Amino acid sequence: MAQPSIYQQVLDPANRANPYPLYAELRKTPVTREDDGTYVVSTYNEISALMHDPRVSSDPGKRNGAAGPAAGPDQGQSQQALSFLNHDPPDHDRLRELAMRPFGPPETPGRIDGMRPWLTKITEGLIDKLADKNRADIVDDFAYPLPVTAICQLLGVPLEDQPRFHQWADGLIETIDPTTGTFEERTRRKQEVQAELTQYFSHLVDARTRQPGDDLISGMLTDQGPHAPMSREDMLATAGLLLVAGHETTVNLITNGMLTLLRHPEVLDQLKHEPGLATTLVEELLRYEPPVQMRTNRTTVADISIAGTTIPAGSPLALMLAAGNRDPGRFANPDDFDPGRTDNAHLSFFGGVHYCFGAPLARTEAQVALTELARRLVNPRLVADPPPYRPNPELRGPRHLPIEYDAVIPAQPKAE
Ligand code: HEM
Repeated sequence: MAQPSIYQQVLDPANRANPYPLYAELRKTPVTREDDGTYVVSTYNEISALMHDPRVSSDPGKRNGAAGPAAGPDQGQSQQALSFLNHDPPDHDRLRELAMRPFGPPETPGRIDGMRPWLTKITEGLIDKLADKNRADIVDDFAYPLPVTAICQLLGVPLEDQPRFHQWADGLIETIDPTTGTFEERTRRKQEVQAELTQYFSHLVDARTRQPGDDLISGMLTDQGPHAPMSREDMLATAGLLLVAGHETTVNLITNGMLTLLRHPEVLDQLKHEPGLATTLVEELLRYEPPVQMRTNRTTVADISIAGTTIPAGSPLALMLAAGNRDPGRFANPDDFDPGRTDNAHLSFFGGVHYCFGAPLARTEAQVALTELARRLVNPRLVADPPPYRPNPELRGPRHLPIEYDAVIPAQPKAE
């Protein structure tokens, strides 16, 4: 049997705990071609150039049946109503702008920063629940509930509906993972969850049409901007995208973050005494252990010459963000975890027109979560290293992160 390529070894779940030596191998040849026609790009400058290249498409319709691996955050979407993640300009830009206006600057500058006290309260509540035991799973007990609660808050999902919403989020994320069941089973399950979610969002849109609130859906409905209004179909696709794109990614950032801190106890201690470190620390975590390791949803729509290779039109690309983040041609000592690193233009939120829409929210959630864990857990330690990982090569993260600790310090009282 032929020796598996380095890229195939990256996809192999057996290598999930530490793919970084394989990425180093990949970088020796910046652009390689797989037998199925996929071009794998692994060096910083080349990935960055392709992320900004208008000859690279995100539209699944441009694939012409070309093969290509696995799935990413987008494949939680239905094929009838593609979200802007799957559109190219100009449609992408129009829909993204409509969704962006109620979400952040310049129109709504205080939205995410204004969520910080609320996020801190939710985080404190989750840590309070750890107080009556000495062992916890950072994934199930902490990192999983936080982002979905945040997205519910943003979208204006009432508190009493949130448990159902959590189930749908989990259901959709399961269907993204190429190792959970056959393709047909996953497609069927995805359609079921999507139908329930669409029906739910549909009711929510009706309710917000009758009585707008201070949430994103109301913002999109009442927007008076140049491209308004957003069609109902696009609104439902956008709401679904926000749920899927912002959930497991943030779970992985928080979990990878705690794992890295427990492997570097001196940094955990520093964060405990110096919460201001959280800003550069989270940026470095994004570079060092990126929640989205690669994007495999791009196709070339023209021949592109790069690093001495011509990638023909119609080729699927695998852009290896995690390999680019450790490229010694771009970062000094890239395999070192340096929480004070300032020259840190990592690729983890992508770049160009599809640059992550939720980056400010993800950063704030991770900063709050890790600072509170560092402050309140007494003598936390890993139970297993490496922890068990989910098999997914693209959205990579531990399935569980069991830890032990001696006690939980009470939350800091707030000035009323
Ligand atoms: C650590 C957490 C996160 C990471 C690492 C991350 C990463 C990414 C990446 C790599 C892309 C580019 C995808 C592509 O074009 O193929 C992306 C796009 C996107 N992300 Fe995030 N994301 C995170 C959190 C969030 C959150 C919290 C939200 C929503 C509240 C969100 C919403 C989006 C949306 C809507 C897009 C599509 C942007 C576009 O196509 O213009 N993400 N993200």
